[in-house]
Amino acid sequence: MTNLAVFASGTGSNFDALQKAIEDGSLSAQIVLLVCDRPNAAVIQKAIRKEIPVLVIDPHHYSSKMDYEFKILESCKKHQVSWLILAGYMRLLGETLLGAYPDHIMNIHPSLLPAFKGKDAIGQAIAYGVKIMGVTIHYVDHTMDGGTIISQESFKVDSDWTREEIETRVHQIEHQLYPKTLQQLLEEQQ
Ligand code: GRF
Repeated sequence: MTNLAVFASGTGSNFDALQKAIEDGSLSAQIVLLVCDRPNAAVIQKAIRKEIPVLVIDPHHYSSKMDYEFKILESCKKHQVSWLILAGYMRLLGETLLGAYPDHIMNIHPSLLPAFKGKDAIGQAIAYGVKIMGVTIHYVDHTMDGGTIISQESFKVDSDWTREEIETRVHQIEHQLYPKTLQQLLEEQQ
């Protein structure tokens, strides 16, 4: 069984989608750890409800990124984590985690990368007026939303769509694309 650590800072709808895919048997893995850098993030309660161990860790309590990530790494090792799955984790990874999990860290981003990297990708795409939007799953490197692209899915935006409707569509795609992409990758590696 493949052990996943999900890294998240917010709502956790992707965390839920991954867990649901695990429960319905479409993703052959288990989430053994949630790493969250925001003590009030809603994702924490989602993990607790599923009895998944949670590491709530505030980077401001550490003198360096290395110390902060070393603490995370210790927990990942304890739980025998083999993949780091970033889902709304609002931080760049440093050498400590990148070096410990080469080619085993992925992220989901709500745009068709390399367009609209960084915060509020959906807002950026709306402001630009693009007619095709989408979602990207990619390997993580030291850059913001960089790293090799693993999968993408696009959709056409009608001119009368509200931001809320666009967000709903993005999330629908994310929630099926993330578990599907991960499962395909795990199968390829067998
Ligand atoms: C998602 O849109 C994801 O693409 C981005 O952050 C958001 C996290 O949403 N990286 P949630 O916390 O999984 O609901």
